[in-house]
Amino acid sequence: MISASELQRKIEAIKNIPTVPGIVQKIAEMVESPSMSAADVGKVIAQDQVLAAKVLRLINSSFYGFPGRISSLSHGVVLLGFNVIKGLVLSASVFDMLSDEMAGLWEHSVGASAVAGVIARHRGYAEPEEVATAGLLHDIGKVILAIELPEVMQQLDAIVAAKRVPRLLAETEVLGITHCHVAHWLCAKWNLPAALREPLVFHHAPQQAKFAPEQTAMVHLANILVRARGYGHGGDPFVPKINDQAWQLLGLSMDDLDAIVARLDVELERVNTHDLFSV
Ligand SMILES: [Fe+2]
Ligand SMILES: [Fe+2]
Repeated sequence: MISASELQRKIEAIKNIPTVPGIVQKIAEMVESPSMSAADVGKVIAQDQVLAAKVLRLINSSFYGFPGRISSLSHGVVLLGFNVIKGLVLSASVFDMLSDEMAGLWEHSVGASAVAGVIARHRGYAEPEEVATAGLLHDIGKVILAIELPEVMQQLDAIVAAKRVPRLLAETEVLGITHCHVAHWLCAKWNLPAALREPLVFHHAPQQAKFAPEQTAMVHLANILVRARGYGHGGDPFVPKINDQAWQLLGLSMDDLDAIVARLDVELERVNTHDLFSV
């Protein structure tokens, strides 16, 4: 088992060292610059062919719901906007580092993305793509923990199974931090906007969101619904309760919820996670 001091050192390393590859860092910086055009960003992504193929697959995946096939990266950048593209480039690179045993977490994330998109569109939200991207990235902290601290994963699983507690509590017990803290550090490093940052950091405590409470509430609900459908594996088998404040904020009726669940069954059926994962 990993020693306490070694664990502390590794957690500090997660805090300080960006885990993202150079090209992602470059794209993240580029989209901050006001003089950048969609074509410029498309060109940089295209330099890395594997990354480009993955980003295009994500753009064309059913959770964005574009009717025609999008074959050009710059067109995708125009349609989705810089922030969503930044999120997609990050997820394409970070999820790729996951081992095969963690495929359930990828499914959970893709499922949450599809559901978040369904909720956003059902509510007539102006930027459903952004919410879907926040859904895709919501557990990115878990991905980083799995990559950086693989030796701790079994310990977390054992606590979840023995004590029947959510993953979040097991993380606190073993690490003293949770995947939400990791998400917070990463978002600061990557300079993600509040619309992505807050759902990633507060999806388990949506009442704490200050700048993007609506997006956070949608991702909070998406995480619960995808778990309730038994789709993918979010790290434990439990379905959390819907937070009262988030539920009020969303203003959904039971009929709305039924309609969302019916729609998400269709969407989840269409999402081919394997195809999205293996480029
Ligand atoms: Fe989570
Ligand atoms: Fe989750």
